[in-house]
Amino acid sequence: MKGILLAGGNGTRLYPLTNVASKHLMCVYDKPMIYYPLSTLMLAGIRDIMLISTPHDIELYKKLLGDGSHLGISITYQIQEKPAGIAQAFLLAEEFIGNDNVCLILGDNIFYGDGFSTTLKNCSQIDEGAIIFGYRVNDPERYGVVEFDENFMVKGLEEKPVKPKSNYAVPGIYFYDNHVIEIAKKLQPSARGELEITDINIEYLKQNKLKVDIIGRGSAWLDTGTPLSLLAASNYVGTIEQRQGYKIACIEEIAYRMGYISLSELEKSIDNMPNSTYQLYIKQLIQNEIIKVPVLL
Ligand code: TTP
Repeated sequence: MKGILLAGGNGTRLYPLTNVASKHLMCVYDKPMIYYPLSTLMLAGIRDIMLISTPHDIELYKKLLGDGSHLGISITYQIQEKPAGIAQAFLLAEEFIGNDNVCLILGDNIFYGDGFSTTLKNCSQIDEGAIIFGYRVNDPERYGVVEFDENFMVKGLEEKPVKPKSNYAVPGIYFYDNHVIEIAKKLQPSARGELEITDINIEYLKQNKLKVDIIGRGSAWLDTGTPLSLLAASNYVGTIEQRQGYKIACIEEIAYRMGYISLSELEKSIDNMPNSTYQLYIKQLIQNEIIKVPVLL
């Protein structure tokens, strides 16, 4: 399965933070925002990833993440000239996807919770159709929203409805079979001029090929598009990291634990890092101080 990390857009709600640099480079507690969705893809077992961003920002991502080889993965880059919608990603990445299935994750979405890695790995084994998620939120009108029938079966989907038919929003991670490319090609821009991911999901629903997995209340889905939600995400990550002594979304650690890189490659990864708590964390990992206790991915 291929992975797409979507990190374009305008980030207008974070102005003036986003006046000169992409939203996904902003800090979420102790690391750039993009580390979190990248780590989600890595935990799903996805090692072939295309990062899509604006002409202005793409070079910064190349500088930050390189070709991914230090993480035992491949990262390629694609420009989205204008934010013409999330679903445009499948058109931009058509060649990259080839005949494979694909997982798309939004660069400003953070997932965290016990067992979520297993869920991701299972989803990456999808044969046909689509898998999206539902997550209960207080403010569903900001998102794509799932409508359920009396048996909790999916009845419909609506993008940013004024009167949401449930509290279940659709988080920004989606698994599709290869048909997503042809579906994306037939899309028409919505009233707001975007190719909508919700329209793709509606098409799968019409074909009876859409599965909506509910992410339970014990897991966190955070998006970081507004100043307050960015602060909340930083506080959340900071709280958990302080409490447990584990880092969330340390991409070098994940690469090692997933078997993408060896211990000696992990050692090499800190060579170019300055003296920092991030480097110290990986050093401790190497010295077995953390690795000794059982950690399940
Ligand atoms: P949004 O939060 O809808 O848009 P934005 O990031 O431009 O922010 P704002 O609304 O404040 O202007 O986008 C959700 C995610 O999808 C975000 O990570 C950016 C990404 N995105 C693209 O990469 N290309 C696109 O065309 C769109 C619409 C979004």
